[in-house]
Amino acid sequence: MSARPVDVPTEETIEETKARLRRDYDPYADLPIQAQLDGLARRRAQLPLSWSGRGNGCWVVTGYDDVSDLLRLNNRGVVSFPNEPDGANAVGSRAAMIPIEIDGAEHRQYRRYLDPQFAPKKVGLLEDHLREQANRFIDGFIEAGRCDFVEGFALPFPGATVLAIMGWPLADLERMNRWTSILLHGVPGGTMEENAQARGRAHVEFSAYMLEKIPEWRAAPRRDDVTSVMLDAEFDGRKMDDNKLFDFFVLMMTAGLDTVQSVLSQTAVYFAHHPEQWDRMFETPETLEPAIEELLRWATPPVPTRTVVDDAVRFQGVDIPRGDRIHAPLAAANRDPKYYPNPDEVIFDRTPKPHLAFGVGPHRCVGLHLARLELRIAFEELHRRIPRFELDPDAPAPREHLGLAWGVEDVHLRFEPGPRELA
Ligand code: HEM
Repeated sequence: MSARPVDVPTEETIEETKARLRRDYDPYADLPIQAQLDGLARRRAQLPLSWSGRGNGCWVVTGYDDVSDLLRLNNRGVVSFPNEPDGANAVGSRAAMIPIEIDGAEHRQYRRYLDPQFAPKKVGLLEDHLREQANRFIDGFIEAGRCDFVEGFALPFPGATVLAIMGWPLADLERMNRWTSILLHGVPGGTMEENAQARGRAHVEFSAYMLEKIPEWRAAPRRDDVTSVMLDAEFDGRKMDDNKLFDFFVLMMTAGLDTVQSVLSQTAVYFAHHPEQWDRMFETPETLEPAIEELLRWATPPVPTRTVVDDAVRFQGVDIPRGDRIHAPLAAANRDPKYYPNPDEVIFDRTPKPHLAFGVGPHRCVGLHLARLELRIAFEELHRRIPRFELDPDAPAPREHLGLAWGVEDVHLRFEPGPRELA
């Protein structure tokens, strides 16, 4: 697949290749994002394809072209199940998360139902509602002149968006957000055991909620939302059963919430340090859109994993055997200096090279137009109402995490207080 094949000695067994290309790597390391990216940049320069022997073991690709090639290979030798770095089921789906861990014809059927629901015109209908929600969350802290940005905005705003597009009750926002946050990241400062216990509890509560709601929604009149479409969707003549609906709902909640939250939180920290860039985004009506793309490139959260299902898939000159997993941190691909000079810098007027933040190939993010709309509304309303902010020196400092979706917690901001706007 690669333009830079590794020179594989012909007699070498796969175990010998693994030993030769071995450099262990922890996708859940307790490291700042930039430190992980620095390690991945060294790996890209020295071992564009490497083997990590940690845990169940996985191959790691880090270059833009290699990551793009891998994701495009989907259905042609690799599949996206399990889509978790360690091959574990971290968020508690019953079988496979739908549609991200489904491949082939079944996956195409899901996308046929979902794509129209997330088309630009369709998600555009939510704009007024989302703008009102954004301002409602800003109202919640603007008079105080300080906020916990993650809890006050970056988490609830995408949460309210998922509820709107799914047609779920806004009144359940707080518990949905809490469950998602615990399922994905455990509890703040929690030990592995505490996190496992908290995840177990969140999963039981979320399951109970969904299993109570699904029959209610089935019986209710249909509306113009994603839940209604999927309740009636037919796959080879059969509707989704409760377990499948559950696995789809878990994915919608996690995929739609954690990613936008992460980009908003990472960029809030960035703008606290670079107020001039906060203004530059809004210099002309044309500057905002490319700036958002550059921020998505710079703050890319997801880390997809693929599993080989053919006898072998040739990648970087190595025949990777059936069953092996290949890990593709998208943030590393988006910092490849081949396409992005000074890749760690946010440069709003880069010559555009489409970033990989939303993935590529059959699983390319279904929610990308919605995500872009959310980010635009969030930045516009935050900039209008909070033109200057800084990190709050009296609050805990930001804490970054890696894993399935990289992000940052404890983003406490301080700013000039302003008036509430909504009744
Ligand atoms: C900044 C925000 C977002 C980013 C960076 C992002 C990124 C991604 C990526 C990289 C994938 C593909 C993963 C893979 O190939 O394994 C994906 C898939 C997906 N995303 Fe997003 N996403 C974002 C927001 C959203 C939103 C707002 C929603 C919906 C409310 C959403 C729903 C989905 C779904 C359903 C899939 C699975 C698509 C499939 O398997 O066909 N995402 N996203």
